[in-house]
Amino acid sequence: MDVILKSPLMADYVPSEETGNQSEEDYAAMIFAILGIAGIVGTSGLLTQVLTAIPETAVIDLDDEKDVMFAVLEAARMRAPVNTVNLILSAAMTMTVNGAEKIIIPAGSVVGGSIGLASLDAAMFEQPDTFNHHRDNLVKMVLNFNAVGYEATGAGTRQCPGRNVAMKMACDILTLSRNPDTYRGVNSALEQAGGIDKSLHGHYDLYGSP
Ligand code: HEM
Repeated sequence: MDVILKSPLMADYVPSEETGNQSEEDYAAMIFAILGIAGIVGTSGLLTQVLTAIPETAVIDLDDEKDVMFAVLEAARMRAPVNTVNLILSAAMTMTVNGAEKIIIPAGSVVGGSIGLASLDAAMFEQPDTFNHHRDNLVKMVLNFNAVGYEATGAGTRQCPGRNVAMKMACDILTLSRNPDTYRGVNSALEQAGGIDKSLHGHYDLYGSP
């Protein structure tokens, strides 16, 4: 909270109608809550993808940070953790519908762009439904953080500010999930807890019991 209150963006904050006449503290608390929601929703989707979309047979060099990162980006490409971005068109756009009909969307319209659909565009990503973390254009073209391409230091004009934290978490989880010791630990903890119904947790025994 303090970080937000002391940020340069809050320095000139004056309650106004635009900000619901909220006090500085209330406004910062609201931003803090939004940050939490943005972080939880996107990251839980990304981690789910990492744990479910990467085929067991995919060869990932866990000692190579880049290879792990490529695998995470490819998992996110296959099913976008944050699917839609909204924007206001600054200029009119023409859309072709059913290959022929032209529709003009006027400037000022609020539109939604689907990261999920674009990430599965076969014209951009060959065999889009197949996991291939060594695609030539993956890092350059991946859209998941609201920028074209993934760049830890910055890309695009309004990209996700949490991308590096989320990527670090996802890379760590992927590495851990492929480490047989993790499964030994999980299996023994589960045994101590009296076991679980494996039919409901198919992934936990991915690498077999020790
Ligand atoms: C620690 C985790 C994360 C935090 C704290 C976080 C935070 C945020 C915040 C504050 C914004 C709004 C930025 C703005 O309006 O300028 C944002 C936007 C966005 N984030 Fe994240 N995020 C996290 C993880 C993720 C993940 C895992 C993904 C997807 C893989 C993601 C994708 C996006 C996208 C696509 C937007 C743009 C949304 C839009 O403009 O409608 N974020 N994020």
